[in-house]
Amino acid sequence: MQGYDSASYGDAFAEVYDEWYGDVSDVPSTVAALTRLAAACADAPIVELGVGTGRLAIPLAEAVRPQPVIGIDSSRAMLDRLRINQLPTGGAGGTVDARLGDMVDDIPLGPLSVVFVAFNTFFNLGTRERQQACFDMVASRLASGGCFVIEAAVPDETATTGSHVEVRTIAADRVVLSIARYDAGSALAEGQFVEFTEAGGIRLRPWSVRYAAPDELDQMAAAAGLVLRDRWEEFGGHPYTVDSLRHVSVYTASSHPTS
Ligand SMILES: C[S@@+](CC[C@H](N)C(=O)[O-])C[C@H]1O[C@@H](n2cnc3c(N)ncnc32)[C@H](O)[C@@H]1O
Repeated sequence: MQGYDSASYGDAFAEVYDEWYGDVSDVPSTVAALTRLAAACADAPIVELGVGTGRLAIPLAEAVRPQPVIGIDSSRAMLDRLRINQLPTGGAGGTVDARLGDMVDDIPLGPLSVVFVAFNTFFNLGTRERQQACFDMVASRLASGGCFVIEAAVPDETATTGSHVEVRTIAADRVVLSIARYDAGSALAEGQFVEFTEAGGIRLRPWSVRYAAPDELDQMAAAAGLVLRDRWEEFGGHPYTVDSLRHVSVYTASSHPTS
């Protein structure tokens, strides 16, 4: 998408993110699963790539304290929200070390306990090459026994190239339309949420992703020297099946399996 970069999504969605997506997945089961995984390397930091407003990282930091939790995000607006969101817990609970940066180029040196990327955020890396680079970088930073966790949608193999417009919200003084298009050949999807308000005119919120199926993620993991240790449908541990629409995949170094 012309003019779109790694900060575009976060800068456009920061003000509505918690309202629109705050309940998009089950936070307690996500935190519980990540806490169990991180216990294998309890002295090493946990890193969330694309930490956003801290929906997951803030309760995780409280759960694993004193184990450090680092959050990387390319959007200053998202990190501003995160800092506000963790004000109530920052004193007594764990505190997320929120860092402005890219989820390939700015991954901390490590060794790292768990690196995780939730809610399709991995697909914000818009090319296969950048996605592979992320796997490679994470693999080079994991502690012995550490793991890389990806939560993502399973792409619809029957989806065809095309575009659509849907209504997201209608109110007396406001309407939000979702305008999207998908290219099956490149697995690229992009769109805009377009908000019209009586008072404020038009607001655009763009997004752009490159989908990858679980098999393709496994290939990238293998190229980076990682192997699939577990795959669930969701963080609660419900088994992944051919009918699953989502997956949580746990990769670990092939030379250091933890189970
Ligand atoms: C869908 S939100 C997910 C936020 C959070 N992980 C959650 O589950 O609520 C995706 C986040 O990834 C960030 N992001 C997108 N591309 C990025 C990149 N290349 N490097 C770091 N962060 C990125 C966006 O700014 C946004 O905050």
